[in-house]
Amino acid sequence: MSVIAERLSRIKPSPTITVTQKARELKAAGRDVIGLGAGEPDFDTPDHIKEAAIDAIRRGETKYTAVDGIPELKAAIAAKFKRDNSLDYDASEITVGTGGKQVLYNALMATLDPGDEVLIPAPYWVSYPDMALLAEGTPVFVPCGENHQFKLQPENLEAVITPLTKWLILNSPSNPTGAAYSEAEMKALTDVLLRHPHVWVMTDDMYEHLVYDDFQFVTPAQVEPALKERTLTVNGVSKSYAMTGWRIGYAGGPQALIKAMAKVQSQSTSNPSSVSQWAAVAALDGSHDFLPERNAVFKERRNMVVEMLNDCPGLHCHRPEGAFYVYPSCAGVIGKTTPDGQRIETDGDFVTYLLESAEVAAVQGTAFGLSPHFRISYATSTEALAEACQRIKRACEALT
Ligand SMILES: Cc1ncc(COP(=O)(O)O)c(C=O)c1O
Repeated sequence: MSVIAERLSRIKPSPTITVTQKARELKAAGRDVIGLGAGEPDFDTPDHIKEAAIDAIRRGETKYTAVDGIPELKAAIAAKFKRDNSLDYDASEITVGTGGKQVLYNALMATLDPGDEVLIPAPYWVSYPDMALLAEGTPVFVPCGENHQFKLQPENLEAVITPLTKWLILNSPSNPTGAAYSEAEMKALTDVLLRHPHVWVMTDDMYEHLVYDDFQFVTPAQVEPALKERTLTVNGVSKSYAMTGWRIGYAGGPQALIKAMAKVQSQSTSNPSSVSQWAAVAALDGSHDFLPERNAVFKERRNMVVEMLNDCPGLHCHRPEGAFYVYPSCAGVIGKTTPDGQRIETDGDFVTYLLESAEVAAVQGTAFGLSPHFRISYATSTEALAEACQRIKRACEALT
């Protein structure tokens, strides 16, 4: 009999981490691999944030804290929600966890009963379905094709809601597509939700600040205040502040839900790192002057990557509003043959070909629930990106 629980057979390890690991191994073996698989900014955490953490260590802020966040951080989060999203959350309606990932996980663990359905627009961030499965829920995927810029359409949302639906998970800007909902697009979705009072909304706003071309970010409870009492607004410092390793995420939501999430956390990890919490206070309360500069670089890279990929035979790349990903279609290379005689049947075959022949690591669309596509993260140096796109082009040209 296996020592591993049956529960684990329902889920798989994060495929994005697997690809990053494979690229790392090839690099360690001396191969010149360009990794475009990672989901983190190549920029460093701004200095004023690091200094605040060092100060916190010196002050002795090195002990257990309140399970779901110090009051100073909750105050900074409340101010952020007010400032950026026109949302009023009291400290008792805010929770802090070890990354956005733990916050999402706590919410699903705290709310799902066996059989409860979780609506997940596809392509999706890889962890949503597996987290729902671990919490004994049933993921229900709603395909969102490139013809609608990978965005959920109101009529498709309406069509999948059942009496068992508990959550709709929205993620704007999206990992893996970079797609972000305009106010009108978001309103069309919240209008549907108003007609279904038993459905809750989990909105993952991790990439809020990473939007380009003057795009105006919106979040569901801001667009439709009547939904606030059944919305969990999830955010974090990982992406916008280049703080992935600090592990701080947070959410605002109804008090009963927030309390239930803290209960889950109290019996698993307890408080997130005390030092990281003080760093997050400095991030949220401090200067955001570094953002426009970094966003200008991201925007330039996005434009370059979209243009170069659209120049590759067999690929087609939509230009998204935000995040640091593009999600090109590789439909035009499916059925072709590599120089060593392998037929490309799937997007998985294509990214394997790219890794082995072009030494470029990307992630196959199957990991995100919409094929045939692949994800490229442009959170890497402009020079490396340009070189990677040239290699991809040569690899595509070599197919027959
Ligand atoms: C859409 C999305 N949500 C949540 C997370 C998790 O963020 P964190 O590193 O804060 O746990 C990520 C990270 O890749 C993400 O892309």
